[in-house]
Amino acid sequence: MAKDKLKRWAENKTFPHVFEPNLMPIIRENATFMKGLWREEFYKNNNPLVVELGCGKGEYAVGQAERNLDKNYLGVDVKGHRFHKGAKESLEMGLTNVAFLRARIEFIDAFFADNELDEIWLTFSDPMPNDHDGNRRITSGFYMKRYERMLKSEGIVHIKHDNPALYERALREIPLMGAEIVLHDDNIYESGFLETIDEKLKDVLEIRTFYEQMWLKEGRKIKYIQARMPKK
Ligand SMILES: C[S@@+](CC[C@H](N)C(=O)[O-])C[C@H]1O[C@@H](n2cnc3c(N)ncnc32)[C@H](O)[C@@H]1O
Repeated sequence: MAKDKLKRWAENKTFPHVFEPNLMPIIRENATFMKGLWREEFYKNNNPLVVELGCGKGEYAVGQAERNLDKNYLGVDVKGHRFHKGAKESLEMGLTNVAFLRARIEFIDAFFADNELDEIWLTFSDPMPNDHDGNRRITSGFYMKRYERMLKSEGIVHIKHDNPALYERALREIPLMGAEIVLHDDNIYESGFLETIDEKLKDVLEIRTFYEQMWLKEGRKIKYIQARMPKK
């Protein structure tokens, strides 16, 4: 496995759409990286920018990029050997609207300017799964406030998760920060929810990530929340 990881790390360095900045200046000196520059410097267009935080192997970043060539996608994860799969696949598919960034979600402010993003996807991602009071979880009010800053007026946050406590807490906290819960369901594959939403969203929600497939085998119920940030 270690050898395989080394191979993937080395290959990532050769990919034109993988960004692996040195995190030390960001952590120690408040440096920034590509902040406000993603469209201009990488995608070379003015299309909407959609970010997947904790993207793992990049199923959502690549799956959506393939479906929506008129949007830009960026998968973010601290583990480069994981998103190597999505990076390699998207390159082989010839997609030019998807990229990957190795970074820690805790330092997300260093990478995105105010109003730079259109949507954020959180797919089973969580930098603090053992944070039992929940304040540092990726769906907490603390993070939502940061997402609000980097999202455009009325930008969208999508949360797909298996954890009931995280789901309930997000439903309570999101309205408190002035955002609107547009859609939510606590068992999307069995409740009939997918039949009530538009076809494009249904198609995307049917993408089952690596982790999701494990949770489904264990019989866990998959939850989804779509939140619209306040008007600016
Ligand atoms: C449970 S996995 C989900 C991955 C993928 N979204 C999926 O559904 O298969 C959580 C992911 O979050 C990433 N992650 C955990 N803590 C992180 C952090 N602090 N910053 C960035 N990524 C993090 C992990 O490396 C992992 O790939």
